[in-house]
Amino acid sequence: MKIVIIHGQGHIGVTYTLTHEIINQLNAKEEDLKEFFLPKDGPDFCVGCFQCFLKGEENCPGAEKVQPIVSAMKWADVIILTSPNYVLEMSGSMKNLMDHMAYRWVTHRPDASMMHKVGVTISTSAGAPAGHTVKSMAKQLKWLCVPTTICVPYICNAMGVHDLSEKKKKEMKKLAQKTATKVKYHVNHPHVGLRIKLFFLLFSKMQSSPDAAWNPMDRDWWVNQGWTKKVRPWKMQEKEHLTE
Ligand SMILES: Cc1cc2nc3c(=O)[nH]c(=O)nc-3n(C[C@H](O)[C@H](O)[C@H](O)COP(=O)(O)O)c2cc1C
Repeated sequence: MKIVIIHGQGHIGVTYTLTHEIINQLNAKEEDLKEFFLPKDGPDFCVGCFQCFLKGEENCPGAEKVQPIVSAMKWADVIILTSPNYVLEMSGSMKNLMDHMAYRWVTHRPDASMMHKVGVTISTSAGAPAGHTVKSMAKQLKWLCVPTTICVPYICNAMGVHDLSEKKKKEMKKLAQKTATKVKYHVNHPHVGLRIKLFFLLFSKMQSSPDAAWNPMDRDWWVNQGWTKKVRPWKMQEKEHLTE
């Protein structure tokens, strides 16, 4: 099982610790793991130049940092997005990376391989529920066409690992075990649900209509892959899934 982790923070805190508890439970081999730490490994802020949409993603001023992350997401079976809960949202660094992924939304030029991935979103918070943060990151994966995302919010009552009680450390281990079980299940039982198919069909209709398909770059993408006709990405790619 190949895993990419995109950390919405650069430090080894509670969120990182919980994420790596999950990785340990998955028995992930080193060569099957890629990690990115934001903002260090990510692009500068999106400047809203529209080059990715209109001319192609390689024209983005941040392409040098964005594209290795995009390639790692394509390589992986499991995409993990993490962020501490910052004012009830994902970190600014993670949001910035998501802005750079907009061209891959189903509304533009989706990557069909995303339909065969499992998403995981992880957030820890000091006291407030982190549910909104994990759902917000899961929403991003949904628009990138990832059909299943496991949300892992956790209230740790701490400002960092130095602050974690023994009780909370034990709870985190249990949560990691439970999450790893879910991840294995979904990797071994891939399912592209009706919601994502309807989503795709809606935008295939849009790209088929000369009035609605406003961006020739996007339209060509859909036409060239046969998606405006009968080709359906969930039927195209049969993947081998590892059982562990
Ligand atoms: C800028 C900032 C904003 C935060 N906002 C919240 C918040 O709205 N609610 C909350 O419960 N905790 C909040 N926290 C606390 C962190 O979410 C919490 O300590 C988290 O577990 C830290 O994870 P880390 O160790 O991975 O950095 C905030 C922390 C920072 C630095």
